Amino acid sequence: MTTLRHFSLGRHAMKVALQLAEVKTGDAVMVPGFICRDLLAAIRSLGAVPVFYEVDINLQPKILDQSVNPRAIIVVNYFGFAQDLEPFIAFGSATGAIVIEDNAHGFLSRDSENQILGQRTTFGITSFRKTLHVVDGATLSASIQESKLPPQLESIDTPNGLRMDASRILARIQQVTKMPIINFAQTASRLIRYIRTGSKFPATDADVETRIPGAANPHTSSVKQMLELDQAKEISRRRSLFEKLLPEVIKLGIKPIFESLPNGTCPYGLPVYASPEFSRTLSKLARRYRVTLMTWPELPQDILPTAPEHYRQVQLLNFR
Ligand SMILES: Cc1ncc(COP(=O)(O)O)c(C=O)c1O
Repeated sequence: MTTLRHFSLGRHAMKVALQLAEVKTGDAVMVPGFICRDLLAAIRSLGAVPVFYEVDINLQPKILDQSVNPRAIIVVNYFGFAQDLEPFIAFGSATGAIVIEDNAHGFLSRDSENQILGQRTTFGITSFRKTLHVVDGATLSASIQESKLPPQLESIDTPNGLRMDASRILARIQQVTKMPIINFAQTASRLIRYIRTGSKFPATDADVETRIPGAANPHTSSVKQMLELDQAKEISRRRSLFEKLLPEVIKLGIKPIFESLPNGTCPYGLPVYASPEFSRTLSKLARRYRVTLMTWPELPQDILPTAPEHYRQVQLLNFR
């Protein structure tokens, strides 16, 4: 039986998952080096220490070093594609590490056995805010007795704020007009940022790897929107976009990370390996299909100097 708890961010959900796995100060938590740097705050805010393992070009673990003796190991379903859990379960059995499924990208996605991603291990998280136009929203899934979980945090009812309302309105206009409105808005906002700050990217807080921002409580509107979603329609929209875009990127000579779409997968987007000179071509393609283009991830500081080349080459046609 899986019990759910909703949070504002995946990081807050991950912090509670780590606490439930009894991660304490000084414990090692293994995490792939190919990860967004802000997730580290969930580990470090508990006084625990991230220890990185490498993933290969197929985003599968190269070596899981048993001598690290971690309290927990985080396994990532990149871009909504099911990670093979077998090596992680074997690692957990050999070392006693608790396996936590980070399904931040994989809302509504399932594996080849039809198991819901994020619910395949005792503790898992999903950051549905990455998939939907919601103000925030993430879920912790736990298959332990409900009484052992902290109670559901009260949800927040404060207004969403201009930015989020604008994002929802733009998404709605795009749906109706079939114009790439979100893509235009993103380009305009990048341009304005560039003129004002000289940088194409938003400024990152200095403590992003150590502190989780904001309250952990989710907004009422986010949870409501998530629960009211027409799931079958959203899965079909995402799968259809992937199927249409895959031959297009191949035709452009760009390498997709995943060359097929397994049954059950609800893709976050279409991730590719492409150097920056392909960005313009990819942007054009994104506009044509009314999706957006992003680079992912902003790597952890400890990983940056020695990161394998493929970690730096990922661009994502994002279907949100
Ligand atoms: C793989 C992965 N896990 C966790 C997170 C954290 O999710 P959130 O931004 O909702 O805290 C991210 C954020 O990008 C992520 O990419």
